[in-house]
Amino acid sequence: MALAGVAGAVPARFLALLGGSASTRYYTGLAPWQGVSPEGEVGPFSAEMGGSNRGEQVMVGVLRRPAGLFLLAAGCLFAGGASAQAMFSLFVATKDEIAARMVALADPKSGETVIDLGSGDGRLVIRSAKDRPGVRGVGVDIDAKLVGDATANSDAEGVSDRVRFMQQNVFDADLSKVDVIYMWLFPELMRLLRPKILREARPGTRVVSQMFDMGDWQSDRSDEQQDTVRLWVVPAKVQGNWQWTLTLPNGRRASYAAVVEQQFQKSDAAVRVGKERRATRMFVLRGDEVTFSLTIPLPGLPNQDHEFTGKVRGNVITGTVKLRRDYDADTNSYKFIELPWRAVRSTQTSYFAPTGLPTPTVLP
Ligand SMILES: C[S@@+](CC[C@H](N)C(=O)[O-])C[C@H]1O[C@@H](n2cnc3c(N)ncnc32)[C@H](O)[C@@H]1O
Repeated sequence: MALAGVAGAVPARFLALLGGSASTRYYTGLAPWQGVSPEGEVGPFSAEMGGSNRGEQVMVGVLRRPAGLFLLAAGCLFAGGASAQAMFSLFVATKDEIAARMVALADPKSGETVIDLGSGDGRLVIRSAKDRPGVRGVGVDIDAKLVGDATANSDAEGVSDRVRFMQQNVFDADLSKVDVIYMWLFPELMRLLRPKILREARPGTRVVSQMFDMGDWQSDRSDEQQDTVRLWVVPAKVQGNWQWTLTLPNGRRASYAAVVEQQFQKSDAAVRVGKERRATRMFVLRGDEVTFSLTIPLPGLPNQDHEFTGKVRGNVITGTVKLRRDYDADTNSYKFIELPWRAVRSTQTSYFAPTGLPTPTVLP
């Protein structure tokens, strides 16, 4: 489809809805999404995409008044019908070379299921099933014709027994049983989908996209060639208060209370044992797997080093903790004792428990 044709494909009524006007200008290239127009104007911008069905990745940007329009657009997205939503992200096929890199980064394995939110002609789902034996796939797209094309393509490529395409709004897609989510949609649409993904997808689900980022949610990995392909791992929810006890090598018991803070996959914690409080080190959350180190005095054990490793399952973390013991000169290393670790989420924390001291009078 020629550029002029793509621009023309965006109905004037829709542009008017988005605030497009005589001042609206069209231009090509990637700059609009990266914040600078060819004329050097700084974003944020929104964008319309259009292009040929065959790989060209032609982009047509629409500069428009950003903030109010974003809200208006978001309002339309939720209040309006499917036709309005489709205009948020027109069909542009991912180039074959980029599709191959997206599948490589997602790395779907036999028995896993991928979904493409806005599946177009089905190429990401079909390639995943074709290149990776035993992988299943679902594609959802708002455009019935594209759903038909994708289904025909899956027949032609001999993977129709493992893939399925359906006409559906991406906001209605079931993300609770998939292992990989592909999506290449307008940046604002991806941003609006972010809470749904974090709420509904299982911890560990890989999200793979190209070109656009996800704002504050930084990618866990990326393949930065000419067109950046990014991967995010859906993190488990660890924010809050956790408690556990350990029976120590000296036979005494220690009760731990942790306050965990979390922003997407970034977390850390303050831990209390008795009257001692320390911060965790090297807190890593990847999907449902959590690891961190802690050095804190325990009953009868001064400054005990710990290495925690566990899996988050809702309100419970189960795993092991290694306690560092004596230095072994023979092996030139420290000995460790490994104990089972089971932390439970609690609604209260003893960390900030009332001290019992009289409350100071607040001056007027
Ligand atoms: C940029 S294309 C990407 C196509 C394909 N995923 C690929 O990478 O080749 C975006 C697709 O999302 C679809 N789409 C846009 N808004 C949608 C919505 N709200 N729900 C479902 N699909 C949508 C469009 O019809 C289009 O096929």
